[in-house]
Amino acid sequence: MENPYMPYPVRIDTIEIATEDKSLKTFKFVFLNKEDEEKFSYHAGQFAELSIPGVGEIPIGIASSPVEKGFVKFTVFRTGVVTSHLHNMKVGDIMGIRGPLGNWYPWDKLENKNVVIIGGGFAFTTLRSSIVYMLDPANRSKFKNIDVVYGARSPGMLLYREELFEWEKRDDINMHITVDSTNDPNWKYHSGFVPQIVEQNAPKADENTFAIICGPPIMIKFTQPSLTQLGYKEHQIIMSLENRMKCGIGMCGRCNIGKELVCKDGPVFTLEELNQTPKEY
Ligand SMILES: Cc1cc2nc3c(=O)[nH]c(=O)nc-3n(C[C@H](O)[C@H](O)[C@H](O)COP(=O)(O)OP(=O)(O)OC[C@H]3O[C@@H](n4cnc5c(N)ncnc54)[C@H](O)[C@@H]3O)c2cc1C
Ligand code: FES
Repeated sequence: MENPYMPYPVRIDTIEIATEDKSLKTFKFVFLNKEDEEKFSYHAGQFAELSIPGVGEIPIGIASSPVEKGFVKFTVFRTGVVTSHLHNMKVGDIMGIRGPLGNWYPWDKLENKNVVIIGGGFAFTTLRSSIVYMLDPANRSKFKNIDVVYGARSPGMLLYREELFEWEKRDDINMHITVDSTNDPNWKYHSGFVPQIVEQNAPKADENTFAIICGPPIMIKFTQPSLTQLGYKEHQIIMSLENRMKCGIGMCGRCNIGKELVCKDGPVFTLEELNQTPKEY
């Protein structure tokens, strides 16, 4: 049996500055061993532990999509010990990836359904993975309407800007991009907070419509009433949590909400499931 704590060795292939304040970078990794890449077979919505020897490990959502082969991508906000170390690393450096970990968005259940993706700030990573997955020519016909509401503080803080504006031009996805505020006279998208843009632009719910929501707790808190007002029931609201974690594989108990271990039973839960747990999220 393989040791579940043993990371796969990877090389940093590219590093892109993702936001204008340089607080986020996107790292593209390639596996040193081809067979490890095959073992690291993942679904959109999962996360991995990025592991830097002698520094530590951190759980990070997988930003690349299962339909993108040959590499795996993560977008990381610089906040503390491990993320700062990672931000200082260079192309060619070797480190580790452990995973894929956790559950994923319920892709089987979402087939033949309308899907509304709602994201805020830098929690858009696994949502990017999901959009690329759904728009892939092999998958697009499996889903009905796709709407995306994505907001950031300012235009320069939006992640994956080139892709966002490419998706904007397509007619098989409805993009509702917003910023809290901007002085840019050329800004031609929305201004305003995510909950307000959801209320004004997201489709009303019928039994075939599901919302996936990922963002800072404050955004999630204020978006839930907007979705309820549009008719979404608790089982139609799917969320991804980012609790503090250690092992990532259900062994240490660091990430629990009541009986649920976010690293193993989650990080993806419906609001209905979360409402049956103690009010800790
Ligand atoms: C499932 C999952 C997916 C995640 N995906 C991403 C992602 O795609 N990109 C990304 O940048 N980050 C993501 N995170 C958060 C990331 O794991 C933390 O920012 C990281 O562990 C901080 O490590 P550090 O050593 O740099 O910070 P530390 O030195 O440990 O702490 C620095 C600061 O960060 C805060 N912090 C640490 N961990 C968390 C956490 N889990 N949630 C909130 N605050 C935290 C601490 O309270 C402290 O204020 C994810 C977390 C989880 C659980
Ligand atoms: S992080 Fe160890 S049980 Fe979830």
